[in-house]
Amino acid sequence: TPPANIEKREFLFKVLVIGELATGKTALVKRYVHNFFSEHYRATIGVDFALKIMKYDDDTVIRLQLWDIAGQERFGNMTRVYYKEAVGCFIVFDVTRGSTFEAVTKWKTDLDNKVQLPDGSPVPCVLLANKCDLVKDGLVENAQQMDQYCEETGFAKWFPTSAKENINIETSARFLISEIMKHT
Ligand code: GTP
Ligand code: MG
Repeated sequence: TPPANIEKREFLFKVLVIGELATGKTALVKRYVHNFFSEHYRATIGVDFALKIMKYDDDTVIRLQLWDIAGQERFGNMTRVYYKEAVGCFIVFDVTRGSTFEAVTKWKTDLDNKVQLPDGSPVPCVLLANKCDLVKDGLVENAQQMDQYCEETGFAKWFPTSAKENINIETSARFLISEIMKHT
């Protein structure tokens, strides 16, 4: 019999993390990759990189190359460069600041205008309603509206997340990967 690992497959996926300033993109990445959280805010300049290696199933290893893009880049002209060859995306908003949700559509449009998968379809995109630890009740009543918003705007799904309390980060990453895998 061949060695057990002979069937193992490995994928490298470039995944973007975008959204308005201070919505928690860097915090989500830090929690996911290093299981670390800080209350201290230091704005990202340009883009930060992180690599998460995850066992997707018994014979699949995923190397997730996370591109954590500064919120202020929506007004810059580098996003086209940063988005190049991405195969998945998280768009993050802050549930305590409505203006960050209003900007989600702008980020999504910017993304879809600047990058597509090799087969021409839009990049699979998941919406993260971050800092859900700060509004314990407010989210559930809006869940149906959020579902509808996702359908209309082309998000595969949305999740309430908290980088602080480590809520739904692993789950949303797994979900995005499963969407990406549909195109492999
Ligand atoms: P830019 O790099 O400027 O685009 O911001 P960002 O989206 O990377 O935000 P960052 O991760 O730096 O977080 C901004 C602030 O929000 C920091 O003070 C974090 O501690 C805080 N924060 C991030 N996620 C959470 C969360 O889930 N809950 C709470 N309570 N605070 C959070
Ligand atoms: Mg940041």
